[in-house]
Amino acid sequence: MSRVTFASKMGLIAAAAGSAVGLGNIWRFPSETAAGGGALFIIIYLACIFFFGIPLMLSEFIVGRSSKSNAAGAFRILAPNTKWNYVGRLGVFSGLVILGFYMVVCGWTLFYIFQSVTGGLSSVSDFSANFETLLQNPLKQWILTVVFTFMTAFFVVSGVKKGIELSAKTMMPLLLLLLIILAVRSLTLPGASAGIDFLFKPKLENMHPSVLMSAMGQSFFSLSLGMACMITYASYFNNETDLTKTAFQVSILDTGVALLAGITIFPAAFALAQNSETITSELIAGGPGLLFITLPNLFNQMPLSIVWSTIFFVLLAIAALTSTISLMEVVTAYIHEEFNLSRFRSVLIVTIVILLLGAFSSFSSLFFNTLDFISAKIMLPIGGLFTSLFVGWYVDKKIVFAQLTNDNKISIGVRFLKAYVFILRYLAPVAILVIFIYGLWGSF
Ligand code: PHE
Repeated sequence: MSRVTFASKMGLIAAAAGSAVGLGNIWRFPSETAAGGGALFIIIYLACIFFFGIPLMLSEFIVGRSSKSNAAGAFRILAPNTKWNYVGRLGVFSGLVILGFYMVVCGWTLFYIFQSVTGGLSSVSDFSANFETLLQNPLKQWILTVVFTFMTAFFVVSGVKKGIELSAKTMMPLLLLLLIILAVRSLTLPGASAGIDFLFKPKLENMHPSVLMSAMGQSFFSLSLGMACMITYASYFNNETDLTKTAFQVSILDTGVALLAGITIFPAAFALAQNSETITSELIAGGPGLLFITLPNLFNQMPLSIVWSTIFFVLLAIAALTSTISLMEVVTAYIHEEFNLSRFRSVLIVTIVILLLGAFSSFSSLFFNTLDFISAKIMLPIGGLFTSLFVGWYVDKKIVFAQLTNDNKISIGVRFLKAYVFILRYLAPVAILVIFIYGLWGSF
């Protein structure tokens, strides 16, 4: 089967970065950081990105580009007549689980766009109550989820080049620029430094097994790893792409956006809080809504608040869209290629499943939180663990080498290669397993 590829280098990086950068960075990262007690969480998170995230992204790229197939097909091509393809299938399943709650948050962004455009947001006095009112209205949340799911489906049906590449390429730089402007505004508010302390001064008493597990889960979630998403995208890479460089670029960009979101949200949260003593507990309690409570409050401290909030939430929705597209693409490519259904029909099936899960998530926060918990903290690390073992032990080293060097066209250092294989074979699997068991034990 001849497969499409991304048209340009810039487009390809934008698409992979588009998948990585999403609500995971701007909504989930701050809320997990708040729940994890701040700086300590961030340090562990950065270590996870460096020691597992980047090597695993590279491994997914290798599996995807060498097989040029969907998630399950890729493992089957590289390991015929084995059970390895179940790792790909698990990834597809994780994709559905994530979409089942992620789409609801996408729906919230639509609500905030609407509130911004109509000017309603600038006249709100209590931003927590405003967010709470939305959460109390499941039907509204579900309708917004339906709209966002259809938007995603539209792009996935249009295919890789037109749909995914173009949208990612144009919007990502804009989002970055806006975040920088907002970070500056937030940092210059009186009282902002308490937020910076919270973010960058670790308090060892916050150490708890579940913090390790949350940080690891967040690193997988944010880099779109452990669910074959980067495998599917790399199957559209061309043969000239430098996989190592791309993995570094995408990871650095993704981490940069997450930190920028933190630097924007926390100083504002501390500066705008009514009572500085209760802020830490408020932060933790209000974790999931941080973005939707603190930022609108920040916009109100700026002239032309309607303009800022409209642009911000539109860009946020686009960042979310490039991520939902990548998630839906994994499941669609799987159904399309494994069951020989047309792309259109495959998208239709995926859409129906998401709308069902989305309905449950809109009506029950317990269901929503459970999907979030099992996907990020359980399914993605398991997917990552097996991908690491697969590339480290099973895949022929000649294939790995050929993929890393583009058939000897680019050179890589021997030390790098050794470290990479060591991480995949020993460090990542053992560490993931230890954190996983320790974290599960600590959660009960
Ligand atoms: N990485 C995306 C985000 O941070 C979410 C995502 C997870 C996308 C897993 C694809 C796969 O928002």
